[in-house]
Amino acid sequence: MIYDNHNRPITYLRLAVTDRCNLRCFYCMPEEGIKYLPKHQVLTYEEMERLVRVLAQLGVHKVRITGGEPFVRSGLMGFMQRLVAIEGLTDLSMTTNGVLTAPHVAELASLGVRSVNLSLDTLDRERFRKITRRDELPAVLKTLDALLAAGIQTKINAVVMEGQNIEDLIPLADLTRTLPVDMRFIEEMPFNGEGSHYPVLHWTHRRIVEEMQSRFPTLQKLPDPPFSTSATYQIPGHQGTIGIIAAFSRTFCGTCNRIRLTAQGTLKTCLYDNGVLDVRAMLRAGASDEELTAAFLRAFAHRPANGFEAEKQRSVVTESMATIGG
Ligand code: 5AD
Ligand code: SF4
Repeated sequence: MIYDNHNRPITYLRLAVTDRCNLRCFYCMPEEGIKYLPKHQVLTYEEMERLVRVLAQLGVHKVRITGGEPFVRSGLMGFMQRLVAIEGLTDLSMTTNGVLTAPHVAELASLGVRSVNLSLDTLDRERFRKITRRDELPAVLKTLDALLAAGIQTKINAVVMEGQNIEDLIPLADLTRTLPVDMRFIEEMPFNGEGSHYPVLHWTHRRIVEEMQSRFPTLQKLPDPPFSTSATYQIPGHQGTIGIIAAFSRTFCGTCNRIRLTAQGTLKTCLYDNGVLDVRAMLRAGASDEELTAAFLRAFAHRPANGFEAEKQRSVVTESMATIGG
């Protein structure tokens, strides 16, 4: 196992397989979309598989497939099949917006995918259309049903946004009454692909908890799993749990075990950094596994202590979450 310069083990890779998306969530992308990468700038599946293999040898045992929207890229299931075969990789999961996912759920289950994160900010069709600029709520709900029917552990991610989905917070939390889902509320982050709007955070993790407590006074704090970014709660008698992710307040950096590879093959050792290694350039210049390993180890030895330090080391954030990979 590899530890970083702050004694945190690096065991979890978030791998963005594409920067493209079939939704246009306003907190992630401008309406016209972001300027997508030309195909040759995106890592091939072969390149990604090789990188996962190298990282697995360094102790990375968990990989989460992200995007953009992973299912927008063709051949995804074949790629995931190859990943499960990698020695040392014990936990494969994905984050999806659920629009194209339902038909693939059975295959995900048969591959042994344990957990899927589904992005869903509202249960109201009109608000969904407003937030994502697409009318796809029915398809996403179909995916939710399919995931639950397949017995895949499902986390629902909702970004909490003043003026957008506040009336949804309680109905979303109430899903846990009858469904065994982890309902997670995320603080909004300044990654909307425009770089101009740095939101005043109206809904901090503390305020979200207070909102939950006001409606569910029996809300209980549960112990958090190790390396979790969310604070876990439960309403007694409910089947599911409620998680609150301080993505903007960054309260969880002290135990951060994760790294990211963007679709264009940039390594990020913090969500808030600007990319610390151009892995694609190394791959395409013919780097050996040993050279890749050495470069990864150097990067892990220079990780910022937290997201505030990482952010200070860069200029304005103009990225979209679709490039960062969530
Ligand atoms: N702030 C917070 N969360 C975001 N996501 C995308 N953009 C943002 C943002 N600006 C979330 C999505 C998805 C996860 C990968 O990241 O809702 O669930
Ligand atoms: Fe697509 Fe996710 Fe960004 Fe929404 S938040 S536009 S679903 S990548």
